[in-house]
Amino acid sequence: MSASLYKQVEQLRARIRQYDYEYYVLDQPSMPDAEYDRAMRELVAIENRHPEMITPDSPSQRVAGTPLGAFRQVRHEAPMLSLNNVFSHEELEAFDRRLKDRLNNHSEIAYNAEPKLDGLAVSLMYEHGLLVRAATRGDGTSGEDITDNVRTIKSVPLRLAGKKNPARLEVRGEVFISKTGFQRMNQEARNKQQKEFVNPRNAAAGSLRQLDARLTAQRPLEMFCYGIGLFEGNLPSQHNELLEQLKRWGLRVCPLIELVTGVQACWHYYQKILNLRASLDYEIDGIVYKVNQQELQQALGFVSRAPRWAVAHKFPAQEEITIVNKVEFQVGRTGAITPVAKLAPVFVGGVTVSNATLHNMDEVKRKDIRAGDSVIVRRAGDVIPEVVAVVKARRQKGARRVKLPRRCPECAGPIVQPQDEAVARCVAGFACPAQRKGALKHYAARNAMDIEGLGDKLVDQLIDNQMVTRLSDLYHLDEKTLSALERMGRRSAQNLLAAIDKSRQTSLARFIYSLGIREVGESTALSLAEYFQFSLAALMQADEESLQAVPDVGPVAAKYIVEYFSQKHNRDLVDYLCNEIGIRWTESDTGDNTCDGLLSGHSYVLTGTLNSMSRDVAGQLIRAQGGKVVASVSKKTTALIAGDKAGSKLKKAEKLGITILDEQAFTALINKC
Ligand code: IVH
Repeated sequence: MSASLYKQVEQLRARIRQYDYEYYVLDQPSMPDAEYDRAMRELVAIENRHPEMITPDSPSQRVAGTPLGAFRQVRHEAPMLSLNNVFSHEELEAFDRRLKDRLNNHSEIAYNAEPKLDGLAVSLMYEHGLLVRAATRGDGTSGEDITDNVRTIKSVPLRLAGKKNPARLEVRGEVFISKTGFQRMNQEARNKQQKEFVNPRNAAAGSLRQLDARLTAQRPLEMFCYGIGLFEGNLPSQHNELLEQLKRWGLRVCPLIELVTGVQACWHYYQKILNLRASLDYEIDGIVYKVNQQELQQALGFVSRAPRWAVAHKFPAQEEITIVNKVEFQVGRTGAITPVAKLAPVFVGGVTVSNATLHNMDEVKRKDIRAGDSVIVRRAGDVIPEVVAVVKARRQKGARRVKLPRRCPECAGPIVQPQDEAVARCVAGFACPAQRKGALKHYAARNAMDIEGLGDKLVDQLIDNQMVTRLSDLYHLDEKTLSALERMGRRSAQNLLAAIDKSRQTSLARFIYSLGIREVGESTALSLAEYFQFSLAALMQADEESLQAVPDVGPVAAKYIVEYFSQKHNRDLVDYLCNEIGIRWTESDTGDNTCDGLLSGHSYVLTGTLNSMSRDVAGQLIRAQGGKVVASVSKKTTALIAGDKAGSKLKKAEKLGITILDEQAFTALINKC
């Protein structure tokens, strides 16, 4: 082997290691992927020609080609300990007090405060800088040899960076899967109709337990290091400095770690990280405080299997087990029938949860949820509670399968489930009280017709007492009828009537949105109003094809819009509201959802095919700058944006002398904004 080839191989390896470090440890890649791929291909090609040059720490050697029969047991030379827990401010104070007492009334103690990562503890053994073994914690005394699997984790260096590596160094940390990685894995599992993982921790555990490292290599495993076990050589005397040293060796350390002094600072750190918890892309279940000074750590020592110098301050659990008492069905505004689990109340994620949506029957079947089952309920941050999985081992004989009712639980009308849809619906429309309530709540909402004082409870009463059977009945309510309702004095009745009256003057966008057409949200409603130049009549006559030309409107929304206006009762309602009730809007009044931008006050027509973007995207760019996209060219049009194969609109613009922008001119305009 020539010296120059050796040098070339080492250079390639160094570049690939540097890339892995920047990408997986620092999360700051500086090299394009293509360059990385080229370097890797080049390295593999040379190694194939010269197998004698392959070294175990070569980046090409992360994935072992032959599966194992079983994992070997390994004894931890230094036991892997666990932590004692505290659950409250008082317990935290007691912990700190105990340490100070033991240290003869020590002054405020400096702690290294770290998120407690919710994954699996792993030990990495480096000898002279080379990763020689990785093991699970097991029972703390001996674990399993998972070297082949851990080698596939790109944030774990196969060789430590730097020249002076200790003779032996055991690094400890947590292997985990990020929340996004977990969602991706489950999406893939769903696509392949395979079983999903319950949570990122189980997914990480399952991935580490593969006997074939080629499978592990496909899983998005990551690792944060938080300490050391055995070592031979010199190391810093403070824990925070030790972590800095680990970083210099190329190991990944959680970036949220802080040095804090005294119990109050620990508490503040706890609160801060608890607030961040939901926004982090990895699961944490508490904080670990570690006495920073190693000398003090030694003085404090251990009790049975846990150090005295560290403690885990647990967050409220986000997952708990409870029982599904029964499954009920709720009817939404669009008639969607949603199964809801009625749970034995359980304190989870900081609140008591007694209901959890099961979304639809596919979900119920996929998770095989039955009435009477013990289930894992999860509530993370402000996310609505969900049933993650059934604890099958606890299933009782009497557990009953959930059946979709044949008739709507609210109006006894028929329930229909189109074959290609996951959602079953009551098709009674306004005849169903639940849908009437939903429609009226939607109509009155702040971002729709904005009727102040018409809250959910009042809507329920109006519908239940049959004071409102059609949306337009709202405008015929009088003070006497309203005052008869629960918790409704004369004054509030008058205020409500004034608010209802005020809603007559609105914007077309709000009015379209308030009709509750499926798939027509606020921004689509605004697009429609602008595109049809504030003519409701034009919108009502539009066919699916012309609707799809509206920015923001896809085939599904187009279908629902046509369907809505093709139904006579809907057309009658809109006519009645506009002509008898007097709902009105000023032309060009887009409501209050437009933004100021360089294109404010200008309107554009898009025609023909654009090469660099879809018309939809072009429309979004215009609207992001406060401009409008309209359907047809008129004297008021600022410019026509003409792509390839522009037809009659181009001719009309030419005739009217309107500015015409080709794709290049349009892109230049947008880039200027
Ligand atoms: S230190 C002697 N630091 O918690 C101290 N552990 O209950 C040993 N864990 O098995 C652990 N994040 O899997 C430490 N920043 C952190 C941690 C952490 C998560 C886990 C670890 C360990 C368990 C102890």
